Amino acid sequence: MKSNLITKWPEKAANRSMLRAVGFNDKDFNKYQIGVASTWSNITPCNNHINILSKAVEYGINKYAKATIFNTITVSDGISNGNFGMKYSLLSREIISSSIETVCNAQSFDAIVSIGGCDKNIPGCILGMCRLNLPSIFIYGGTILPGKNRTDIVSVFESLGKYYSKKIKENELLEIEKNSIIGSGSCSGMYTANSMAIAAEVLGISIPNTSLQNAQSINKILNCINSGKIIFNLLKNNIKIKDIINYNSILNAIKVISLLGGSTNCILHLLSIANCLNINLNLKDIKNISNNLPTISDLKPSGNFFISDLINCGGIQKFLKFLLEINILNGDCLTVTGFTLKENLKNIKNNYVNKILKNINFPLKKTNQIKILFGNLSKNGCISKISGKEGEIFLGKSKVFNSEEESIEFIYKNKIYKKTIIVIRFEGPKGGPGMREMLTPTSALIGVGVKKDIALITDGRFSGGSHGFVVGHISPEAYNKGEISILFDNDLIMIDTINNNILFFVNKKKIELRKKFFFNYSKISYGILNLYRKMSMDSSTGANFSYE
Ligand code: FES
Repeated sequence: MKSNLITKWPEKAANRSMLRAVGFNDKDFNKYQIGVASTWSNITPCNNHINILSKAVEYGINKYAKATIFNTITVSDGISNGNFGMKYSLLSREIISSSIETVCNAQSFDAIVSIGGCDKNIPGCILGMCRLNLPSIFIYGGTILPGKNRTDIVSVFESLGKYYSKKIKENELLEIEKNSIIGSGSCSGMYTANSMAIAAEVLGISIPNTSLQNAQSINKILNCINSGKIIFNLLKNNIKIKDIINYNSILNAIKVISLLGGSTNCILHLLSIANCLNINLNLKDIKNISNNLPTISDLKPSGNFFISDLINCGGIQKFLKFLLEINILNGDCLTVTGFTLKENLKNIKNNYVNKILKNINFPLKKTNQIKILFGNLSKNGCISKISGKEGEIFLGKSKVFNSEEESIEFIYKNKIYKKTIIVIRFEGPKGGPGMREMLTPTSALIGVGVKKDIALITDGRFSGGSHGFVVGHISPEAYNKGEISILFDNDLIMIDTINNNILFFVNKKKIELRKKFFFNYSKISYGILNLYRKMSMDSSTGANFSYE
Protein backbone atom coordinates (compact mmCIF):
# COMPACT_ATOMS: atom_id res chain seq x y z
CA MET A 1 0.00 0.00 0.00
CA LYS A 2 1.31 3.43 -0.92
CA SER A 3 -0.01 4.76 2.38
CA ASN A 4 2.40 2.55 4.32
CA LEU A 5 4.76 5.48 3.82
CA ILE A 6 2.89 7.21 6.64
CA THR A 7 1.27 4.35 8.57
CA LYS A 8 3.62 1.38 8.87
CA TRP A 9 6.81 0.43 10.69
CA PRO A 10 8.23 1.84 13.93
CA GLU A 11 9.86 4.79 12.21
CA LYS A 12 6.39 6.11 11.27
CA ALA A 13 5.47 6.62 14.92
CA ALA A 14 5.48 10.40 14.55
CA ASN A 15 3.14 10.23 11.53
CA ARG A 16 0.77 7.90 13.37
CA SER A 17 0.88 10.09 16.41
CA MET A 18 -0.35 13.03 14.31
CA LEU A 19 -3.05 10.88 12.73
CA ARG A 20 -4.28 9.59 16.10
CA ALA A 21 -4.95 13.19 17.01
CA VAL A 22 -7.39 13.50 14.07
CA GLY A 23 -9.32 10.34 14.97
CA PHE A 24 -7.32 7.34 13.72
CA ASN A 25 -7.18 4.14 15.80
CA ASP A 26 -4.82 1.12 15.65
CA LYS A 27 -6.95 -0.73 13.08
CA ASP A 28 -7.06 2.26 10.74
CA PHE A 29 -3.30 1.99 10.12
CA ASN A 30 -3.78 -1.40 8.46
CA LYS A 31 -6.40 -0.10 6.02
CA TYR A 32 -6.23 1.55 2.61
CA GLN A 33 -6.08 5.32 3.06
CA ILE A 34 -8.54 7.08 0.77
CA GLY A 35 -8.60 10.83 0.24
CA VAL A 36 -12.00 12.49 -0.13
CA ALA A 37 -11.54 15.77 -2.01
CA SER A 38 -14.41 18.04 -1.09
CA THR A 39 -15.17 21.27 -2.91
CA TRP A 40 -17.46 22.43 -0.09
CA SER A 41 -17.79 26.16 0.13
CA ASN A 42 -20.40 28.53 1.40
CA ILE A 43 -19.76 31.00 -1.40
CA THR A 44 -22.19 29.36 -3.82
CA PRO A 45 -25.30 27.12 -3.82
CA CYS A 46 -23.52 24.77 -6.22
CA ASN A 47 -21.26 23.63 -3.40
CA ASN A 48 -22.79 24.55 -0.06
CA HIS A 49 -24.23 21.04 0.44
CA ILE A 50 -21.05 19.18 -0.42
CA ASN A 51 -20.02 18.86 3.23
CA ILE A 52 -23.01 16.56 3.71
CA LEU A 53 -22.04 14.56 0.63
CA SER A 54 -18.42 14.22 1.72
CA LYS A 55 -19.59 12.92 5.13
CA ALA A 56 -21.74 10.34 3.31
CA VAL A 57 -18.72 9.33 1.20
CA GLU A 58 -16.62 9.04 4.37
CA TYR A 59 -19.28 6.83 5.94
CA GLY A 60 -19.38 4.62 2.85
CA ILE A 61 -15.60 4.29 2.65
CA ASN A 62 -15.05 3.60 6.34
CA LYS A 63 -16.84 0.25 6.04
CA TYR A 64 -13.98 -0.95 3.82
CA ALA A 65 -11.01 1.40 4.32
CA LYS A 66 -10.11 4.67 6.05
CA ALA A 67 -11.36 7.94 4.57
CA THR A 68 -9.84 11.35 5.15
CA ILE A 69 -11.73 14.41 3.96
CA PHE A 70 -9.81 17.42 2.75
CA ASN A 71 -10.96 20.60 1.07
CA THR A 72 -9.96 22.41 -2.03
CA ILE A 73 -11.05 25.82 -3.27
CA THR A 74 -13.89 26.77 -5.54
CA VAL A 75 -15.12 29.87 -7.33
CA SER A 76 -18.62 30.46 -8.63
CA ASP A 77 -19.01 31.48 -12.24
CA GLY A 78 -22.59 32.52 -11.52
CA ILE A 79 -21.26 35.13 -9.10
CA SER A 80 -18.02 36.13 -10.81
CA ASN A 81 -19.48 36.43 -14.31
CA GLY A 82 -19.32 39.90 -15.83
CA ASN A 83 -16.64 41.27 -13.53
CA PHE A 84 -12.92 41.12 -12.78
CA GLY A 85 -13.41 38.04 -10.58
CA MET A 86 -14.20 35.92 -13.62
CA LYS A 87 -10.52 36.08 -14.62
CA TYR A 88 -9.96 33.61 -11.77
CA SER A 89 -12.52 31.08 -12.99
CA LEU A 90 -10.57 28.94 -15.44
CA LEU A 91 -7.43 29.47 -13.40
CA SER A 92 -9.26 27.93 -10.42
CA ARG A 93 -9.45 24.65 -12.39
CA GLU A 94 -5.63 24.53 -12.32
CA ILE A 95 -5.47 25.45 -8.62
CA ILE A 96 -8.02 22.77 -7.73
CA SER A 97 -6.26 20.05 -9.72
CA SER A 98 -2.88 21.10 -8.32
CA SER A 99 -4.17 21.20 -4.74
CA ILE A 100 -5.69 17.72 -5.06
CA GLU A 101 -2.42 16.40 -6.50
CA THR A 102 -0.52 18.10 -3.68
CA VAL A 103 -2.60 16.81 -0.76
CA CYS A 104 -2.96 13.27 -2.10
CA ASN A 105 0.75 12.81 -2.73
CA ALA A 106 1.78 14.58 0.47
CA GLN A 107 -0.55 12.32 2.45
CA SER A 108 0.35 9.16 0.44
CA PHE A 109 -3.29 8.26 -0.21
CA ASP A 110 -3.96 4.95 -1.94
CA ALA A 111 -7.06 6.17 -3.77
CA ILE A 112 -9.24 9.21 -4.17
CA VAL A 113 -12.92 10.09 -4.34
CA SER A 114 -13.56 13.68 -5.38
CA ILE A 115 -16.82 15.59 -5.19
CA GLY A 116 -17.47 18.61 -7.39
CA GLY A 117 -20.52 20.72 -8.09
CA CYS A 118 -19.56 23.72 -10.18
CA ASP A 119 -18.22 24.51 -13.62
CA LYS A 120 -14.52 24.55 -12.84
CA ASN A 121 -14.25 22.31 -9.82
CA ILE A 122 -15.58 19.32 -11.79
CA PRO A 123 -12.80 19.42 -14.43
CA GLY A 124 -10.42 20.52 -11.64
CA CYS A 125 -11.20 17.33 -9.69
CA ILE A 126 -10.90 15.17 -12.80
CA LEU A 127 -7.58 16.73 -13.85
CA GLY A 128 -6.22 16.27 -10.32
CA MET A 129 -7.22 12.61 -10.38
CA CYS A 130 -5.65 12.18 -13.84
CA ARG A 131 -2.33 13.55 -12.65
CA LEU A 132 -2.30 11.25 -9.63
CA ASN A 133 -3.38 8.15 -11.59
CA LEU A 134 -4.77 6.37 -8.52
CA PRO A 135 -7.97 4.32 -8.26
CA SER A 136 -10.45 7.19 -8.48
CA ILE A 137 -14.15 8.04 -8.52
CA PHE A 138 -15.76 11.38 -9.32
CA ILE A 139 -19.04 12.21 -7.59
CA TYR A 140 -21.23 15.00 -8.90
CA GLY A 141 -22.88 17.31 -6.37
CA GLY A 142 -26.15 17.21 -8.34
CA THR A 143 -28.40 19.73 -10.00
CA ILE A 144 -30.47 22.47 -8.38
CA LEU A 145 -34.24 22.55 -8.97
CA PRO A 146 -35.74 25.37 -11.05
CA GLY A 147 -37.00 28.44 -9.21
CA LYS A 148 -40.45 30.03 -9.23
CA ASN A 149 -42.10 30.13 -12.68
CA ARG A 150 -39.34 27.86 -13.99
CA THR A 151 -36.56 30.41 -13.65
CA ASP A 152 -32.87 29.96 -12.98
CA ILE A 153 -29.57 31.86 -12.95
CA VAL A 154 -29.74 32.54 -16.69
CA SER A 155 -33.23 34.02 -16.24
CA VAL A 156 -31.70 36.53 -13.84
CA PHE A 157 -28.89 37.48 -16.24
CA GLU A 158 -31.37 37.89 -19.08
CA SER A 159 -33.79 39.89 -16.94
CA LEU A 160 -31.04 42.39 -16.39
CA GLY A 161 -30.96 43.04 -20.15
CA LYS A 162 -34.76 43.47 -20.10
CA TYR A 163 -34.44 45.92 -17.22
CA TYR A 164 -31.82 48.03 -19.02
CA SER A 165 -33.94 48.09 -22.16
CA LYS A 166 -36.93 49.16 -19.99
CA LYS A 167 -38.96 46.03 -20.72
CA ILE A 168 -39.33 45.27 -17.01
CA LYS A 169 -39.29 47.46 -13.89
CA GLU A 170 -36.85 47.28 -10.98
CA ASN A 171 -39.40 45.53 -8.72
CA GLU A 172 -39.91 42.84 -11.37
CA LEU A 173 -36.16 42.34 -11.63
CA LEU A 174 -35.99 42.02 -7.84
CA GLU A 175 -38.79 39.45 -7.89
CA ILE A 176 -36.84 37.31 -10.37
CA GLU A 177 -33.63 37.76 -8.37
CA LYS A 178 -35.33 36.56 -5.18
CA ASN A 179 -37.10 33.53 -6.60
CA SER A 180 -34.87 32.03 -9.28
CA ILE A 181 -32.32 30.18 -7.18
CA ILE A 182 -33.70 28.28 -4.24
CA GLY A 183 -31.80 25.54 -2.44
CA SER A 184 -28.51 23.86 -3.28
CA GLY A 185 -27.09 22.38 -6.44
CA SER A 186 -25.48 23.23 -9.74
CA CYS A 187 -27.09 25.53 -12.29
CA SER A 188 -30.09 23.75 -13.63
CA GLY A 189 -29.82 23.59 -17.43
CA MET A 190 -27.48 21.78 -19.77
CA TYR A 191 -24.86 24.28 -18.72
CA THR A 192 -21.23 23.48 -17.95
CA ALA A 193 -21.60 21.69 -14.59
CA ASN A 194 -24.34 19.34 -15.75
CA SER A 195 -22.56 18.82 -19.08
CA MET A 196 -19.30 17.93 -17.32
CA ALA A 197 -21.09 15.63 -14.87
CA ILE A 198 -22.64 13.71 -17.77
CA ALA A 199 -19.23 13.65 -19.49
CA ALA A 200 -17.69 12.17 -16.31
CA GLU A 201 -20.28 9.40 -16.22
CA VAL A 202 -19.77 8.59 -19.91
CA LEU A 203 -16.00 8.69 -19.43
CA GLY A 204 -16.54 5.93 -16.88
CA ILE A 205 -15.21 7.72 -13.80
CA SER A 206 -18.60 8.22 -12.09
CA ILE A 207 -20.93 5.51 -10.91
CA PRO A 208 -23.55 4.75 -13.61
CA ASN A 209 -26.77 6.77 -13.45
CA THR A 210 -25.41 9.33 -10.98
CA SER A 211 -24.75 12.35 -13.19
CA LEU A 212 -28.47 13.06 -13.36
CA GLN A 213 -29.50 13.43 -9.73
CA ASN A 214 -30.94 16.30 -7.78
CA ALA A 215 -28.43 17.79 -5.33
CA GLN A 216 -30.78 17.51 -2.39
CA SER A 217 -32.04 13.96 -2.84
CA ILE A 218 -31.81 10.57 -1.20
CA ASN A 219 -30.35 9.19 -4.43
CA LYS A 220 -27.43 11.59 -4.19
CA ILE A 221 -26.67 10.49 -0.63
CA LEU A 222 -26.90 6.82 -1.67
CA ASN A 223 -24.54 7.55 -4.56
CA CYS A 224 -22.01 8.89 -2.04
CA ILE A 225 -22.37 5.94 0.33
CA ASN A 226 -22.07 3.41 -2.52
CA SER A 227 -18.78 4.95 -3.60
CA GLY A 228 -17.09 3.26 -0.59
CA LYS A 229 -17.59 -0.25 -1.92
CA ILE A 230 -16.73 0.77 -5.47
CA ILE A 231 -13.47 2.53 -4.63
CA PHE A 232 -12.46 -0.48 -2.51
CA ASN A 233 -13.15 -2.70 -5.48
CA LEU A 234 -11.02 -0.48 -7.72
CA LEU A 235 -8.19 -0.71 -5.17
CA LYS A 236 -8.41 -4.50 -4.92
CA ASN A 237 -8.32 -4.81 -8.71
CA ASN A 238 -5.71 -2.06 -9.11
CA ILE A 239 -7.86 -0.17 -11.64
CA LYS A 240 -6.55 3.36 -12.02
CA ILE A 241 -7.96 6.35 -13.84
CA LYS A 242 -5.62 5.86 -16.80
CA ASP A 243 -7.14 2.38 -17.26
CA ILE A 244 -10.53 4.07 -17.62
CA ILE A 245 -10.05 7.32 -19.53
CA ASN A 246 -8.70 6.82 -23.02
CA TYR A 247 -9.21 8.22 -26.52
CA ASN A 248 -12.39 6.19 -27.08
CA SER A 249 -14.00 7.11 -23.76
CA ILE A 250 -13.32 10.80 -24.45
CA LEU A 251 -14.90 10.46 -27.89
CA ASN A 252 -17.91 8.80 -26.23
CA ALA A 253 -18.24 11.77 -23.87
CA ILE A 254 -17.97 14.30 -26.72
CA LYS A 255 -20.66 12.48 -28.70
CA VAL A 256 -23.13 12.42 -25.81
CA ILE A 257 -22.48 16.05 -24.90
CA SER A 258 -22.89 17.10 -28.54
CA LEU A 259 -26.19 15.23 -28.91
CA LEU A 260 -27.53 16.73 -25.68
CA GLY A 261 -26.56 20.31 -26.61
CA GLY A 262 -23.91 20.56 -23.88
CA SER A 263 -21.63 23.42 -23.04
CA THR A 264 -18.71 24.51 -25.22
CA ASN A 265 -16.66 24.61 -22.01
CA CYS A 266 -16.99 20.86 -21.92
CA ILE A 267 -14.94 20.67 -25.11
CA LEU A 268 -12.25 22.83 -23.54
CA HIS A 269 -12.14 20.63 -20.43
CA LEU A 270 -12.14 17.36 -22.37
CA LEU A 271 -9.25 18.68 -24.47
CA SER A 272 -7.38 19.54 -21.27
CA ILE A 273 -8.05 16.06 -19.81
CA ALA A 274 -6.74 14.50 -23.03
CA ASN A 275 -3.73 16.80 -22.90
CA CYS A 276 -3.05 15.88 -19.26
CA LEU A 277 -3.12 12.16 -20.12
CA ASN A 278 -1.05 12.59 -23.31
CA ILE A 279 -4.00 11.43 -25.40
CA ASN A 280 -3.79 12.75 -28.92
CA LEU A 281 -7.11 14.58 -29.35
CA ASN A 282 -7.60 17.83 -31.25
CA LEU A 283 -10.31 20.18 -32.47
CA LYS A 284 -10.35 18.52 -35.90
CA ASP A 285 -11.38 15.20 -34.28
CA ILE A 286 -14.18 17.02 -32.47
CA LYS A 287 -15.23 18.80 -35.67
CA ASN A 288 -15.63 15.43 -37.40
CA ILE A 289 -17.78 14.13 -34.55
CA SER A 290 -20.11 17.10 -34.24
CA ASN A 291 -20.49 17.40 -38.03
CA ASN A 292 -22.08 13.97 -38.10
CA LEU A 293 -24.50 14.26 -35.21
CA PRO A 294 -27.92 15.93 -34.97
CA THR A 295 -29.34 17.89 -32.03
CA ILE A 296 -31.90 15.83 -30.19
CA SER A 297 -32.41 17.46 -26.82
CA ASP A 298 -34.73 20.26 -25.81
CA LEU A 299 -32.68 21.27 -22.77
CA LYS A 300 -31.84 24.78 -21.66
CA PRO A 301 -30.15 27.15 -22.46
CA SER A 302 -31.64 27.09 -25.97
CA GLY A 303 -34.37 24.55 -25.18
CA ASN A 304 -37.28 24.46 -22.77
CA PHE A 305 -36.37 21.92 -20.12
CA PHE A 306 -34.19 21.69 -17.03
CA ILE A 307 -31.99 18.76 -16.02
CA SER A 308 -34.46 18.01 -13.20
CA ASP A 309 -37.12 17.46 -15.91
CA LEU A 310 -34.82 14.95 -17.57
CA ILE A 311 -34.33 13.22 -14.21
CA ASN A 312 -38.12 12.97 -13.90
CA CYS A 313 -38.21 11.42 -17.39
CA GLY A 314 -35.80 8.67 -16.27
CA GLY A 315 -32.32 10.12 -16.94
CA ILE A 316 -30.02 9.11 -19.80
CA GLN A 317 -29.27 5.43 -19.26
CA LYS A 318 -31.80 4.32 -21.88
CA PHE A 319 -30.39 6.91 -24.25
CA LEU A 320 -26.85 5.61 -23.73
CA LYS A 321 -28.09 2.07 -24.40
CA PHE A 322 -29.67 3.26 -27.64
CA LEU A 323 -26.43 5.00 -28.71
CA LEU A 324 -24.55 1.82 -27.95
CA GLU A 325 -26.88 -0.28 -30.06
CA ILE A 326 -26.56 2.00 -33.09
CA ASN A 327 -22.76 2.00 -32.67
CA ILE A 328 -22.40 5.67 -31.81
CA LEU A 329 -20.75 4.76 -28.50
CA ASN A 330 -17.81 2.42 -28.00
CA GLY A 331 -19.06 -0.05 -25.39
CA ASP A 332 -15.68 -1.60 -24.62
CA CYS A 333 -14.45 1.26 -22.43
CA LEU A 334 -13.83 0.28 -18.80
CA THR A 335 -15.67 2.10 -16.00
CA VAL A 336 -15.39 2.45 -12.21
CA THR A 337 -17.69 -0.53 -11.72
CA GLY A 338 -14.90 -2.73 -13.08
CA PHE A 339 -17.19 -3.51 -16.00
CA THR A 340 -17.33 -1.95 -19.44
CA LEU A 341 -19.91 0.60 -20.53
CA LYS A 342 -21.65 -2.15 -22.51
CA GLU A 343 -21.74 -4.46 -19.49
CA ASN A 344 -23.12 -1.71 -17.25
CA LEU A 345 -25.98 -1.13 -19.69
CA LYS A 346 -26.75 -4.83 -20.21
CA ASN A 347 -30.14 -4.80 -18.48
CA ILE A 348 -31.21 -1.33 -19.60
CA LYS A 349 -33.89 -0.94 -22.27
CA ASN A 350 -33.27 1.39 -25.21
CA ASN A 351 -36.69 3.12 -25.43
CA TYR A 352 -35.37 6.54 -24.46
CA VAL A 353 -37.61 8.92 -26.44
CA ASN A 354 -39.52 11.45 -24.31
CA LYS A 355 -40.58 15.12 -24.41
CA ILE A 356 -36.94 16.22 -23.92
CA LEU A 357 -34.90 13.69 -25.89
CA LYS A 358 -36.22 13.37 -29.42
CA ASN A 359 -36.05 10.40 -31.75
CA ILE A 360 -32.66 10.54 -33.47
CA ASN A 361 -34.37 9.98 -36.85
CA PHE A 362 -36.63 12.99 -36.25
CA PRO A 363 -34.26 15.32 -34.37
CA LEU A 364 -34.87 18.88 -33.26
CA LYS A 365 -32.22 19.88 -35.76
CA LYS A 366 -30.40 17.74 -38.32
CA THR A 367 -27.08 19.37 -37.54
CA ASN A 368 -25.31 19.69 -34.22
CA GLN A 369 -25.31 22.80 -32.04
CA ILE A 370 -21.59 22.53 -31.35
CA LYS A 371 -19.56 23.56 -34.36
CA ILE A 372 -15.79 23.71 -34.64
CA LEU A 373 -14.78 26.42 -37.10
CA PHE A 374 -11.50 27.16 -38.82
CA GLY A 375 -10.48 29.94 -41.18
CA ASN A 376 -8.29 33.00 -41.62
CA LEU A 377 -9.78 34.50 -38.44
CA SER A 378 -8.99 31.41 -36.36
CA LYS A 379 -6.27 29.21 -37.78
CA ASN A 380 -6.08 26.95 -34.71
CA GLY A 381 -9.85 26.65 -34.51
CA CYS A 382 -12.68 28.00 -32.41
CA ILE A 383 -15.96 26.74 -31.01
CA SER A 384 -19.50 27.91 -31.63
CA LYS A 385 -22.81 26.73 -30.31
CA ILE A 386 -25.64 27.53 -32.67
CA SER A 387 -29.12 26.30 -31.92
CA GLY A 388 -30.18 27.03 -35.51
CA LYS A 389 -32.95 29.38 -34.41
CA GLU A 390 -30.58 32.23 -35.31
CA GLY A 391 -29.72 30.85 -38.75
CA GLU A 392 -26.57 29.02 -39.77
CA ILE A 393 -24.57 31.60 -41.69
CA PHE A 394 -23.94 35.08 -40.40
CA LEU A 395 -22.40 37.78 -42.58
CA GLY A 396 -21.89 41.08 -40.85
CA LYS A 397 -19.66 44.04 -39.98
CA SER A 398 -17.43 44.05 -36.92
CA LYS A 399 -17.76 46.25 -33.85
CA VAL A 400 -14.57 45.71 -31.90
CA PHE A 401 -14.02 45.85 -28.11
CA ASN A 402 -10.81 45.18 -26.23
CA SER A 403 -12.47 43.89 -23.08
CA GLU A 404 -15.78 42.48 -21.86
CA GLU A 405 -16.50 45.61 -19.83
CA GLU A 406 -16.24 47.86 -22.90
CA SER A 407 -18.72 45.66 -24.75
CA ILE A 408 -21.28 45.54 -21.92
CA GLU A 409 -21.27 49.31 -21.55
CA PHE A 410 -21.84 49.68 -25.28
CA ILE A 411 -24.66 47.11 -25.45
CA TYR A 412 -26.59 48.72 -22.61
CA LYS A 413 -26.17 52.30 -23.80
CA ASN A 414 -26.29 52.19 -27.59
CA LYS A 415 -28.50 51.11 -30.43
CA ILE A 416 -26.91 48.12 -32.12
CA TYR A 417 -27.54 47.81 -35.83
CA LYS A 418 -28.65 44.60 -37.45
CA LYS A 419 -25.89 42.41 -38.87
CA THR A 420 -23.33 43.64 -36.38
CA ILE A 421 -20.71 41.15 -35.23
CA ILE A 422 -19.52 42.14 -31.78
CA VAL A 423 -15.85 41.24 -31.37
CA ILE A 424 -14.53 40.93 -27.80
CA ARG A 425 -10.80 40.31 -27.77
CA PHE A 426 -7.85 40.28 -25.36
CA GLU A 427 -10.01 37.97 -23.24
CA GLY A 428 -8.14 34.73 -24.11
CA PRO A 429 -6.18 32.58 -21.63
CA LYS A 430 -3.16 34.92 -21.73
CA GLY A 431 -4.84 38.12 -22.85
CA GLY A 432 -7.49 38.28 -20.12
CA PRO A 433 -5.68 36.73 -18.49
CA GLY A 434 -8.04 33.94 -17.56
CA MET A 435 -10.33 33.46 -20.59
CA ARG A 436 -13.46 34.93 -19.04
CA GLU A 437 -16.95 33.83 -20.04
CA MET A 438 -19.05 36.33 -21.96
CA LEU A 439 -22.36 35.47 -20.30
CA THR A 440 -23.16 39.07 -19.42
CA PRO A 441 -22.85 40.46 -22.99
CA THR A 442 -24.75 37.51 -24.52
CA SER A 443 -27.49 37.74 -21.90
CA ALA A 444 -27.62 41.51 -22.41
CA LEU A 445 -28.11 41.02 -26.17
CA ILE A 446 -30.97 38.62 -25.48
CA GLY A 447 -32.41 40.94 -22.86
CA VAL A 448 -32.41 43.96 -25.19
CA GLY A 449 -34.04 41.77 -27.84
CA VAL A 450 -31.46 41.70 -30.63
CA LYS A 451 -30.38 38.08 -30.34
CA LYS A 452 -31.30 37.12 -33.91
CA ASP A 453 -29.68 40.13 -35.58
CA ILE A 454 -26.33 40.25 -33.81
CA ALA A 455 -23.45 37.78 -33.57
CA LEU A 456 -20.69 37.80 -30.98
CA ILE A 457 -17.19 36.41 -31.40
CA THR A 458 -14.39 36.32 -28.84
CA ASP A 459 -11.10 34.75 -27.85
CA GLY A 460 -12.70 34.32 -24.42
CA ARG A 461 -15.24 31.65 -23.54
CA PHE A 462 -18.97 31.34 -23.13
CA SER A 463 -20.93 30.14 -20.18
CA GLY A 464 -22.95 27.00 -20.76
CA GLY A 465 -25.89 29.38 -20.27
CA SER A 466 -24.99 31.56 -23.28
CA HIS A 467 -27.02 31.26 -26.42
CA GLY A 468 -27.44 33.22 -29.64
CA PHE A 469 -25.08 33.38 -32.62
CA VAL A 470 -21.87 33.15 -30.61
CA VAL A 471 -18.34 31.95 -31.36
CA GLY A 472 -15.68 31.62 -28.68
CA HIS A 473 -12.18 30.23 -28.03
CA ILE A 474 -10.86 32.01 -31.15
CA SER A 475 -7.29 30.86 -31.45
CA PRO A 476 -4.62 32.12 -31.76
CA GLU A 477 -5.89 34.67 -29.27
CA ALA A 478 -5.33 38.42 -29.65
CA TYR A 479 -2.54 38.44 -27.03
CA ASN A 480 -0.61 35.98 -29.20
CA LYS A 481 -1.12 38.25 -32.24
CA GLY A 482 -3.88 36.10 -33.68
CA GLU A 483 -5.84 37.63 -36.57
CA ILE A 484 -8.62 38.72 -34.19
CA SER A 485 -6.12 41.33 -32.91
CA ILE A 486 -6.01 43.14 -36.27
CA LEU A 487 -9.74 43.55 -36.80
CA PHE A 488 -11.06 47.11 -37.11
CA ASP A 489 -14.65 48.32 -36.84
CA ASN A 490 -16.69 47.59 -39.98
CA ASP A 491 -14.56 44.72 -41.27
CA LEU A 492 -16.67 42.16 -43.10
CA ILE A 493 -16.80 38.80 -41.30
CA MET A 494 -18.52 35.58 -42.24
CA ILE A 495 -19.40 32.83 -39.77
CA ASP A 496 -20.44 29.78 -41.75
CA THR A 497 -21.51 26.94 -39.48
CA ILE A 498 -22.56 24.78 -42.43
CA ASN A 499 -19.04 24.64 -43.86
CA ASN A 500 -17.25 25.20 -40.51
CA ASN A 501 -15.62 28.45 -41.61
CA ILE A 502 -14.85 31.74 -39.91
CA LEU A 503 -13.42 34.31 -42.29
CA PHE A 504 -12.71 38.00 -42.43
CA PHE A 505 -12.42 39.88 -45.69
CA VAL A 506 -9.54 42.34 -45.59
CA ASN A 507 -6.99 42.47 -48.39
CA LYS A 508 -3.48 41.08 -47.87
CA LYS A 509 -1.72 44.44 -47.95
CA LYS A 510 -3.93 45.85 -45.25
CA ILE A 511 -3.48 42.73 -43.14
CA GLU A 512 0.33 43.04 -43.34
CA LEU A 513 0.15 46.73 -42.49
CA ARG A 514 -2.14 46.17 -39.52
CA LYS A 515 0.15 43.41 -38.24
CA LYS A 516 3.04 45.87 -38.13
CA PHE A 517 1.05 48.09 -35.82
CA PHE A 518 -0.12 45.38 -33.45
CA PHE A 519 -1.05 46.89 -30.11
CA ASN A 520 -1.45 44.80 -26.99
CA TYR A 521 -4.60 46.04 -25.22
CA SER A 522 -4.31 43.38 -22.57
CA LYS A 523 -4.45 44.77 -19.05
CA ILE A 524 -1.47 44.55 -16.73
CA SER A 525 -2.01 41.72 -14.31
CA TYR A 526 -0.46 40.52 -11.09
CA GLY A 527 -0.22 37.60 -8.69
CA ILE A 528 -1.59 34.24 -9.75
CA LEU A 529 -3.16 35.81 -12.87
CA ASN A 530 0.31 36.61 -14.07
CA LEU A 531 1.35 33.02 -13.44
CA TYR A 532 -1.63 31.81 -15.49
CA ARG A 533 -0.65 34.20 -18.29
CA LYS A 534 2.85 32.72 -18.32
CA MET A 535 1.85 29.07 -18.00
CA SER A 536 -1.45 28.68 -19.84
CA MET A 537 -1.49 26.88 -23.15
CA ASP A 538 -3.61 27.65 -26.18
CA SER A 539 -7.38 27.26 -25.84
CA SER A 540 -7.35 24.83 -28.77
CA THR A 541 -5.52 22.35 -26.52
CA GLY A 542 -7.49 22.99 -23.34
CA ALA A 543 -5.82 26.11 -21.89
CA ASN A 544 -4.29 24.24 -18.98
CA PHE A 545 -0.98 24.97 -17.33
CA SER A 546 2.10 23.93 -19.22
CA TYR A 547 4.44 22.34 -16.70
CA GLU A 548 7.28 22.07 -19.21
FE1 FES B 1 -21.87 26.73 -10.13
FE2 FES B 1 -23.38 27.37 -12.27
S1 FES B 1 -22.26 28.72 -10.97
S2 FES B 1 -22.85 25.41 -11.52
